Amino acid sequence: YVVGIDLGTSAVKALLVDRDGNVKAEASRSYPLVHKHSGWSEQQPEDWVEGTIDALAELVSGLGSSADQIEGISFSGQMHGLVLLDGQGRPVRNAILWNDTRTTQQCREIDRVLGGRLLEITRNPALEGFTLPKILWVKQNEPKAFEQAKLFVLPKDYVRYRLSGQLHMDYSDAAGTLLLDVAGKHWSGEILSAFELSASFCPPLIESHGLAGKLLPDIAQRSGLSESTKVFAGGADNACGAIGAGILTEGVTLCSIGTSGVILSSESDKQKEFGGKVHFFNHGKQDAFYAMGVTLAAGYSLSWFRNTFAEGESFEELLAGVGDIAPGAGGLLFTPYLVGERTPHADSAIRGSFIGMDGSHSRTHFARAVMEGITFSLNESVDILRRAGKTVDTIISIGGGAQNPVWLQMQADIFGATVVALENEQGPGMGAAMLAAYGCGWFDSLEDCAQRFVKRGAAYNPNPDAVKVYASLFEVYQQVYAQTRSLNE
Ligand code: XUL
Repeated sequence: YVVGIDLGTSAVKALLVDRDGNVKAEASRSYPLVHKHSGWSEQQPEDWVEGTIDALAELVSGLGSSADQIEGISFSGQMHGLVLLDGQGRPVRNAILWNDTRTTQQCREIDRVLGGRLLEITRNPALEGFTLPKILWVKQNEPKAFEQAKLFVLPKDYVRYRLSGQLHMDYSDAAGTLLLDVAGKHWSGEILSAFELSASFCPPLIESHGLAGKLLPDIAQRSGLSESTKVFAGGADNACGAIGAGILTEGVTLCSIGTSGVILSSESDKQKEFGGKVHFFNHGKQDAFYAMGVTLAAGYSLSWFRNTFAEGESFEELLAGVGDIAPGAGGLLFTPYLVGERTPHADSAIRGSFIGMDGSHSRTHFARAVMEGITFSLNESVDILRRAGKTVDTIISIGGGAQNPVWLQMQADIFGATVVALENEQGPGMGAAMLAAYGCGWFDSLEDCAQRFVKRGAAYNPNPDAVKVYASLFEVYQQVYAQTRSLNE
């Protein structure tokens, strides 16, 4: 067996996977977000560690004496979150997460200091969610904590460190820090010195399938795993989501709708130019890359809607009648900018809207409009990929957006592409398990592993009538940002 650990924003989930890619058991533990001020989003690193050990212990307890058959574990992690460690490897403050937007001023400072070099080196623009602006925020606002900090890591790197005693960061996660030379695969001395950060502030880099170490004895004892269990580095959640869906070469695109939503396409050309319009990161597959657009409030928009207007109902109940409403939600249009946006509008101040409300609209129209608005936002990323010359004709859909057949058909109709769901889809945790399986030597390549592990399910083809309706609505949708922006300034 191998175990894939998905360290998410709301919970950690551990998957026990056999040599055929079957999930034999799973366990999860949730943990809270800490919002001290509006726009702030933090977590306690200790909650991740305890949650992970508890989830592992639950998995292992179901195995009895076969626990020794777990050969390796690996990780998928929420990206960008800043964990600052002191000389003893202890966090000096809470982690500042990817969805924290306090750093607009630091982003402008990065732009001012680095100008065009930022995009040349990191292949990405300065965005509030990324790590370097968070480092600068702590430096400027909490100088005492910063003085204690000797090194930074990202969330899953911290958990791996606590489980194995070894400090590393893999390329796919390092790519989201704004400190990595993405094409050159090394920490950027130029950026570090521009912000007076020393080279020792960055952990050693490692491949995602690379062996980071073995389990520490006390962790082995608490979790029930063997001390000889190999610990592999793992990758960023989006890279692992892509691996788990078999997106390892060009030609197939990923649509993942979780709290945030992404459109992701694998890229072999490290010089491929997207002008910073989509993120360009190292993949979890060695020397591969991916381009990705992000909708910040994807699944979050629908949970917000449910929690606010359908308290106590399940998503199934909320969405029961959405399939009976025609594409276009009776003229109701939603923009999902509840927490600002990333792609194509890197704007943390913009807020969402419902436009075209009519006395005949029911709550179900609103629910459909929310699903359509999220999908329109993701279609802006599809559009950017196509304009950059990528073919987007087959999309593997994962996450909450893949659980509802009406939504899968809507994706096919809005994206104008065949949308394929996976059988028994497990999200990024499966990608993490595949990295462990490859790292253990079960397969010659991640592609071979994907052949065995990734099982494609139902395919949804675009319906020409719906495609037409959505194409004209998409043009309207694209105008809303420019027309509502000034209202939020
Ligand atoms: C990607 C991003 C999110 C997080 C979610 O850039 O910020 O998708 O990775 O965990």
